Amino acid sequence: MSSAVQSDFLTVIRERHAVRYFDPTHHINEQEIMQLLELAGSAPSSWNLQHWKFVAFTETDAKHKLLPVANGQRQVVDASVTVAVLGDLEANRNAAAVYGPVIEGGSEDAYAGYASSRILFDQIEKAYAVDASSPYRRDEAIRNASLAAMQLMLAAKAMGLDSGPMVGFDPDAFVKAFHVPPRYMPVLLVAIGKAIKPARPTTRFPVEQTIVWNGFDPGSANL
Ligand SMILES: Cc1cc2nc3c(=O)[nH]c(=O)nc-3n(C[C@H](O)[C@H](O)[C@H](O)COP(=O)(O)O)c2cc1C
Repeated sequence: MSSAVQSDFLTVIRERHAVRYFDPTHHINEQEIMQLLELAGSAPSSWNLQHWKFVAFTETDAKHKLLPVANGQRQVVDASVTVAVLGDLEANRNAAAVYGPVIEGGSEDAYAGYASSRILFDQIEKAYAVDASSPYRRDEAIRNASLAAMQLMLAAKAMGLDSGPMVGFDPDAFVKAFHVPPRYMPVLLVAIGKAIKPARPTTRFPVEQTIVWNGFDPGSANL
């Protein structure tokens, strides 16, 4: 891979497709993987709490352990790296680490728009002080980690690589096999490498069909 390859961004978006067949001989080094994950982690997140952890599968043994967990999807082995994007169910625990340095640095907007650090931290704690049945933590983990996963796929494409996202895996088996602490939940697997077979052709709905201008009309419940 040449990290110098940087296509025009709109071309990157249009040319990214879900690749399922990767060249097993193609190697990506650790530094390149770090660069990809650094770009993935520049995604936005609620309160900038950065609700993601990346488990990078590069070693043959680990990839083979992942294979049955991923329902035998061969791309997890053949890809140069398969990244499991995990969501953080306790991202409130990141608040001090995220805001401490900004507050110490005396930045003008150190409290993310709040009047004081106490109000900021209280807001975050209040949001996370929900009982176990509340979907809030899970929703936050999934939506924020998904943004990082999308950036990962686009960064890969911009760097001349291909990718394939997967939810076709057993999250419980993943947690067990790779000793994932309860704080994190597996959200998505992303295989990254060099395609040896192009992605299946796909289409999208015409944009007109996906837009609702300024709210649905009354009575459109069955649309
Ligand atoms: C959340 C998510 C889960 C997916 N899971 C799988 C999967 O388990 N296996 C697979 O082969 N493709 C999977 N895909 C790829 C989709 O099938 C693919 O993105 C879709 O058909 C559109 O194709 P394109 O991305 O090539 O345009 C997944 C995509 C997303 C976004």
